Amino acid sequence: MRPFARLTVVFALFALIASPRLRAETGAEAWLRYERLDQQAAQRYRDFPAAVVVLGNSELLSTASEELVRGIHGTLGKTLRLGVKLSSEPAIILGRLAAIQESIPGLRPPESLADDGFWLTGVRVHGRESLVIAASNDRGVLYGVFTLLNKIALAESLAHLNEIRKPYAPIRWVDQWDNLDGRIERGYAGRSIFFENGDVRADLSRASAYARLLASVGIDGCTINNVNADAHLLDDDHLSQLVRVANVFRPWGIQLSISVDLASPKTVGGLATFDPLDSNVADWWRKKVDAIYAAIPDFGGFVVKADSEGRLGPSFYGRTPADAANVIARALKPHHGVVFYRAFVYDHHLDWRDPKNDRAKAAYDNFHPLDGQFEDNVIIQIKHGPIDFQAREPVSPLFGGLEKTNEAVELQVTQEYTGQQHHLCFLVPMWKQVLDFDLHANGTRTPVKDLVAGKTFHRPIGGFVAVVNVGLDVNWLGHPLAMANLYGYARLAWNPDLAAEQIAKEWTALTFGRNPKVMQTISSMPLSSWHTYESYTGPLGMQTLTDILGSHYGPGIESSEENGWGQWHRVDRDGVGMDRTVASGTGYVAQYPPLISQLYESLATTPDDVLLFFHHVPYTYVLHSGKTVIQHIYDSHYEGAERAADYVKQWQSLQGFVDSDRYAATLARLAYQSGHAIVWRDAVCEYFLRLSGIPDTKGRVGHHANRIEAESMRLTGYNPIAVTPWENASGGSAIECASPQHTCSAGIVFKGPSGVYELDVQYFDQNNGESQFRVFINDKLIDEWIANLQLPTTKIGGDSSTRRRIQRANLHLGDAIRIEGTPDKDERAALDYLEINPQPR
Ligand code: GCU
Repeated sequence: MRPFARLTVVFALFALIASPRLRAETGAEAWLRYERLDQQAAQRYRDFPAAVVVLGNSELLSTASEELVRGIHGTLGKTLRLGVKLSSEPAIILGRLAAIQESIPGLRPPESLADDGFWLTGVRVHGRESLVIAASNDRGVLYGVFTLLNKIALAESLAHLNEIRKPYAPIRWVDQWDNLDGRIERGYAGRSIFFENGDVRADLSRASAYARLLASVGIDGCTINNVNADAHLLDDDHLSQLVRVANVFRPWGIQLSISVDLASPKTVGGLATFDPLDSNVADWWRKKVDAIYAAIPDFGGFVVKADSEGRLGPSFYGRTPADAANVIARALKPHHGVVFYRAFVYDHHLDWRDPKNDRAKAAYDNFHPLDGQFEDNVIIQIKHGPIDFQAREPVSPLFGGLEKTNEAVELQVTQEYTGQQHHLCFLVPMWKQVLDFDLHANGTRTPVKDLVAGKTFHRPIGGFVAVVNVGLDVNWLGHPLAMANLYGYARLAWNPDLAAEQIAKEWTALTFGRNPKVMQTISSMPLSSWHTYESYTGPLGMQTLTDILGSHYGPGIESSEENGWGQWHRVDRDGVGMDRTVASGTGYVAQYPPLISQLYESLATTPDDVLLFFHHVPYTYVLHSGKTVIQHIYDSHYEGAERAADYVKQWQSLQGFVDSDRYAATLARLAYQSGHAIVWRDAVCEYFLRLSGIPDTKGRVGHHANRIEAESMRLTGYNPIAVTPWENASGGSAIECASPQHTCSAGIVFKGPSGVYELDVQYFDQNNGESQFRVFINDKLIDEWIANLQLPTTKIGGDSSTRRRIQRANLHLGDAIRIEGTPDKDERAALDYLEINPQPR
């Protein structure tokens, strides 16, 4: 046996030993797999009690004890006995602190237990060591159970257990943007788990499973429909349907809430007006809310998007957001419900020719003057940045602009502008930066996490909201690694002081097991992935540079410019970036407290990573890093694409260590991402090269030595077409089959030296058909595939451009290479280019 082959066998054997039981997994269980511990780890729990005693009686307590039984059965293979009274037998004792203290007098936690918080401790009862999970409310008991189960799944020691955990803020919510017809706005993992055909689905089993997942990480509320709300969800016949959703949420302590349309009193109620200051309107809301609470006593409240992106709002009657929020808040108050009023209020018909106009100013301009005018059950829900979930933005100044008003930060788990779950982009490091950012709002230390949690200005409620958009896809979010974002969001909402590294490690261990190699590889990939994504899309605070008028997915650099949406980055021949300074720009910088506005006002002190958000500079401007802006744009795109390619290699090193289904699904997404990173790289770099006229000092941009444009190949049945914008296809053009009925082909004669090569076929995978591609060398089929990735476009361009890599092709001088495309429906098997590179070793 050759040494290399021997090594491979040894490696494969090691992989088998390292992961003895790789059962098939779909990802449906997410981080709640309760995988059986190996013998060594299980030893730690050999004295684990055999019984669970529940002191108290409620739906939540039953859920908690059943979950404990389920989790222990999975991890330790033991079936716990359920009891309701303490005996001399060691047990896990669950309940509210007061109930437990009745049975174990003298038991006292080291500090008080906050709502939803809990205490895990060992205790001697009748001389035997028991475990206590005590909380001030039943939901806290459930959270305590999940935490204990997590500890066991992570094989942590329970010796000397005495731990209190409490949430950072009362609001730890998720929003879903589901439409009643079953589609999800900005959802990338299938249809709604809540709605179908205008109604709540008959089968809510996935909604129930979702509630369990959310509860397991401390989430306490969920808004189930799109912020662009369909007013008809408030129709009387929908109420009984909402009751069914509340019923599946309740056992998990998740409060149900819905988004409402401010115009509802008119559209649904039949009133002549929806003016928030009209007494009939106030009456209508009161009656509607009373009816909801009569059916759902623990209903959470409403989310309101108004005067935004074409939705009606209080401005229609010359009223303010406070007027609008308050009329609903007053109806909810007697029932302890809340209104999340979104600060995402802006004019999307801004005149782009006016250099003083600035969408980033809108939230602060609209809400800061109203501070103190909102009812105390209103929460202003503020997107983390002043624009809209871009790859990087500074934090919204509004967090520091409300002192007498409750607030919550809005984050986005669904990766609308960050790769739509086709790309790996772990957002916890970004969120950490946002939450830790010190706005110096009152001259002292005021990180965003404290402002939103109500700690700085002593607000009664506030906290965290994330738009999640899970769907019916079995693994919830599409990409097998994307659930790290949901897990991470929830962990931060509970405790924003946790490090991103710890969150990534926990998630990896719970989702893929504790094998050190798996842990090391999987937890390190996500940690760099946000920066990687930013590098090959829109670095230096330019925003994502994507098609903001359509999919929000692939490159679309100019789509932001010269229109009213205000996502401008003000790119021109001489430079790039939006001047938002007080001295010469829009004045946005003045919305920050003095220390921060000074930081951003000056070019010298603005950090490189947000530079172009605040300043317009020439391409030759030298960054703190010592590079010019233009060279940074080139380098970051090349480096980002290289890192994306490296993820593929890192993942491949896990073959045999991860179950084959999740291994293959993840590999496919990472391989796709590495190809699409090149699409991004080339589009952005070539665009800036053409505009600035400044070459890449490393000679890469515009030079693709081993690339053969499809339009220059020998074509049979294929026609060249121009692609718009030009930078979204190599050389500005592509080819597509002239007829939808016939297979076409593009061929070349290989002119290089004989050897082993890697072939990259760049084709377009639209979502209006499933074309077939086949590649031949001298009439021998070497690869074939179907273009069916479900990318978000019907068009040929940067959204659909996809790379197929064919490894280890033996080529000889004079070989004929032929790519055949067979169209399907409206997709014409379009091709961009073929690249032939020597096979890397
Ligand atoms: C983004 C998103 C919309 C959404 C809006 C919002 O603009 O693209 O789909 O409705 O945010 O947050 O309201």
